[in-house]
Amino acid sequence: MKYDEKLRPQYHFTPPTQWMNDPNGMVFYEGEYHLFYQHYPDSNVWGPMHWGHAVSEDMVNWEHLPIALYPDTLGYIFSGSAVIDWKNTSGLGTADNPPMVAIYTYHDPVGAEAGRNDFQTQGIAFSLDKGRSWTKYEGNPVLANPGIIDFRDPKVSWDEANERWIMILAVLDHVNIYTSPDLIRWEFQSEFGHTIGGHGGVWECPDLFSLTDQYGDEKWVILLSINPGGPQGGSATQYFVGDFDGTVFTPVDSVTRWIDYGADNYAGVTWADIPEIDGRRLFLGWMSNWQYANVVPTYEWRSAMTIPRELSLHKSETGYLLQSKPVPELETLMGEAVVSHESTMDLSTESYLVELTNVKGQSLDITFSNEQGERLVVKLTADRLVIDRTKSGDTSFSEDFAAIHEAPLGGISVSDIQIYMDRSSAEVFVNYGAIVMTDLIFPTTPYTKVSVSASEVKMSLTPMASIWK
Ligand code: FRU
Repeated sequence: MKYDEKLRPQYHFTPPTQWMNDPNGMVFYEGEYHLFYQHYPDSNVWGPMHWGHAVSEDMVNWEHLPIALYPDTLGYIFSGSAVIDWKNTSGLGTADNPPMVAIYTYHDPVGAEAGRNDFQTQGIAFSLDKGRSWTKYEGNPVLANPGIIDFRDPKVSWDEANERWIMILAVLDHVNIYTSPDLIRWEFQSEFGHTIGGHGGVWECPDLFSLTDQYGDEKWVILLSINPGGPQGGSATQYFVGDFDGTVFTPVDSVTRWIDYGADNYAGVTWADIPEIDGRRLFLGWMSNWQYANVVPTYEWRSAMTIPRELSLHKSETGYLLQSKPVPELETLMGEAVVSHESTMDLSTESYLVELTNVKGQSLDITFSNEQGERLVVKLTADRLVIDRTKSGDTSFSEDFAAIHEAPLGGISVSDIQIYMDRSSAEVFVNYGAIVMTDLIFPTTPYTKVSVSASEVKMSLTPMASIWK
């Protein structure tokens, strides 16, 4: 299948057709990365949510599978997670064939319409055939709603130390933490977030996991998406670093930090059950923003995921910082890099990586342009990374789109910049992921030139192959 329409990303995950939002149920099992996603198969705008499904051996090349979960009498299938119940604690599989269990939010549209406040509950479903077919649990919901409209997006993980499951759930303006012996009976443990972090919008799609910093000390990280209230307006994902004792999360500071300073990386979470021998914490997000997601000028499909990124934790003078680095699996798509001795290079493909080295903290502009006079400018100033997409192409569909986005450099000296371009997206990584900005763009014809305004800098261009054969 060739997913080759105009503006369709060639090395980013997109649904075969129609609407997609959040990544869901990301779990690794028997050599396959599973990616489920919020999907409305009957339209290219948001509607009754299903879980679409795809699998990959490398997080880069994807095979689309049939829809995994359909709405039922309890409601639409909103965001959630999936785990392998290795010890069959749920009893839904066997010791020899542990079940893959999806934990998701039921959103009951009838209850919502009727003005009730308890229409979001948590349900589970299981698969005994590597996610190919699914059975909903008879006793759903497994977590009832206490009378809070926003009560959703469960992310579940196994707590090795306490031999039980942990669920982190978004509850309007904070998260709740629950524990369970069996994924079915859930007990409330604690709340976090009322008086910390951004509160310009509703909290959604949390994640909770541990990472070790460069000194080998373990810390816990909460990812938390917020909409609106992001640094560029609309949707964005913040994070908190702290300690977690199996019941209560205690942050080390009260600084609000963002995993990505662009406008288009939302609802991202990490893969469950990555084998210990690999040990990476692997993330991807939905590459859009609720400000305009429903009206971006693509019609056969709407929305892509970001490239997969490995998260790591760095202790710095200003606190703990989360870095996002593109996964090396992407290298399998890379053609031969062309190194430029000029400040301008011709672009002969629409999917490529532009890499700048030897930046030495200089201020500079990197400009992608086409014959229409459209241009995307990535700018480095003394203290900021900036993306100017005001003249990047079609911006007419939303007054929020044509904007200049800025990220503070936080005192780092920039040595390297990588820009992953893929027809309708730009992902900028500074110093291999210390600062990240992800922005959508909709050039009316492909950019044909890239130029850099500083002479000492080394620029290279690497074509990226399509994942759709
Ligand atoms: C985040 C979100 C989730 C919800 C889902 C519905 O983008 O609003 O909170 O579960 O999308 O599609």
